[in-house]
Amino acid sequence: MPLFTKENTAPERSLPRHIAAIMDGNGRWAVKRGLPRKAGHAAGAEALRKVLYHCRDIGVRYLTVYAFSTENWKRSEEEVGALMVLLKRYLEEAIDSMERERIKLFVMGDLSRLSPELQALSNRALEKSRTVEGMQLNVCFNYGGRDEIVRAARKYARDYAAGKAGELDEALFSAYLDSAAIPDPELIIRTGGEQRTSNFLLWQSAYAEYYFTDTLWPDVTPAEIDRAIDAFNHRERRYGGAK
Ligand code: FPP
Repeated sequence: MPLFTKENTAPERSLPRHIAAIMDGNGRWAVKRGLPRKAGHAAGAEALRKVLYHCRDIGVRYLTVYAFSTENWKRSEEEVGALMVLLKRYLEEAIDSMERERIKLFVMGDLSRLSPELQALSNRALEKSRTVEGMQLNVCFNYGGRDEIVRAARKYARDYAAGKAGELDEALFSAYLDSAAIPDPELIIRTGGEQRTSNFLLWQSAYAEYYFTDTLWPDVTPAEIDRAIDAFNHRERRYGGAK
C-alpha cells in the first residue's frame, strides 16, 4: 500500500511542503530500448505528470523540476527541439486545465533565450495561475543556479543604484531570485544514479535533504516519491543547531 494516499495521509509523518526533482536518466532509458533520446524525454514528461498528480493528491504544495539547464543547449538540435516541444505542450495543457486540475504552472529560468511563442505561453500560464487556487508546479527551463544568482544580483544592483532598494540581506536577496515567493524545498530527489547537484537551486537548497535513487526518471512512480518522503522522515534536520 502506498505510504501516502489522498484518503490516508499518515498524520504522524511530516510531508514536505516543497519537493524538487532532478529528472535524470531519460537518455539512458531511451538508449536501453534502442530509441532516440527524445523518446526518453517524452516518457519522462509522462512520468512527471503522474508524479505531479500524486504530489497534489497527497497535499504537497510545490513541485519544482529541472527540465532544461543553461548547459543543455550543447545537446543536439533534435534533442533541444524535442524539449522545447514538451515545454510548449505542458504550458498549453496547463493553461487549459489548471482550474480543473488545481495546478498552477510557473517557468523558472532565463526565459529571454526562449522563442517568443514560449515566452508568451509562459506569461499566459503565469497570469492564469494568479487566479487559481492549488498546488504549484515550477518548471526550471534554461535554468542554472549560478545564472539565477547572477541575474538576481544584477537586478538588485540596478534597484540599489536607482534608490529603489535598501541594504542587502538574505531575505531581500531571495526576493530577487526566480523563486521569490516560493518557500525553499525541504526535499530534493535526484534520479538516474548520479550524486551531484548540477547547478540546481543552489541558493534554495541550503537546508534541503537530498534523496538519490538509481531509478531512471521515466521509471519513477508515485511509490518512489513515497519512498523519498519516507526517507526524508527518517532524517534529523538540525539547521546548524545541536541535538
Ligand atoms: C536529464 O536526463 C533530463 C533532461 C535534460 C530533461 C528532463 C525533461 C523531462 C523529464 C521532460 C519534461 C519536460 C518538460 C518541459 C515539462 P538525461 O537526458 O541527461 O539523461 P541521461 O543522463 O540518461 O542521458
